[in-house]
Amino acid sequence: MAKRRRLIVANWKMYGRLTSGLVLVRDIVEKAEAARPLNFDVVLCPPATLTWAASESVMGTPVMLGAQDCHTATHGAYTGDISAAMFTDLGCRYIILGHSERRGAHGESNELIAQKVEAAQLAGLTVILCVGETAAELESGASATDIVQKQLRASLPKNVKTAHLVVAYEPVWAIGTGQQPSPEDIASVNKAIRQTFGEAGETVRVLYGGSVNPSNAGAIAARDEVDGFLVGSASLNADGFWAIAEKCG
Ligand code: 13P
Repeated sequence: MAKRRRLIVANWKMYGRLTSGLVLVRDIVEKAEAARPLNFDVVLCPPATLTWAASESVMGTPVMLGAQDCHTATHGAYTGDISAAMFTDLGCRYIILGHSERRGAHGESNELIAQKVEAAQLAGLTVILCVGETAAELESGASATDIVQKQLRASLPKNVKTAHLVVAYEPVWAIGTGQQPSPEDIASVNKAIRQTFGEAGETVRVLYGGSVNPSNAGAIAARDEVDGFLVGSASLNADGFWAIAEKCG
């Protein structure tokens, strides 16, 4: 079995104005260029407002662009929404879908997320599908593995293309809290995620996200079952983000 190439993804959420956001893109690009050739993939997912300008900055560099969400339709009367194809137009290769902040604050169901996964893959994007248990679900006595596997199965369209799928295990209680499962627990959930796909799972990259920072990333990256990171707040600083990225090498 060939080793899966690791992947580090920056999820900037709703942070980054035009000037500050583009400075951050350029700072990260500079670090990636200096580290060529890279033996891992780097994806930045800025707010949609930055995508067009950022695409010029990353062109011809090892850094790739991603989006944070999309609509299920290719076009239509959907005020305020953006289709997956619109992001491919701007040079995006990846898209985050099913993030807990959208499942929570926007009430996105597994069914809706499955439709988005299908739409994004049809548009040619590789989907970074987020799954993770809440603290309340854990308190009810279910195992993280069972919760996550159930959520994952329900969030996948029937015709999912595993070659264009990445799964990010993001325990909801670990996002932005400074708390995390142990590296052992992360590895065992990641392994269960991979096993959900049977043989096809061997090529699916399974990331970890939730309070990842330069100090804790090394111990998590030491686990073979972790194929990289989905980083929130620590990705808003070029030095910090790159220090985490280097653990993927
Ligand atoms: P933090 O790294 O800020 O905990 O956020 C994780 C996350 O939600 C990435 O998608």
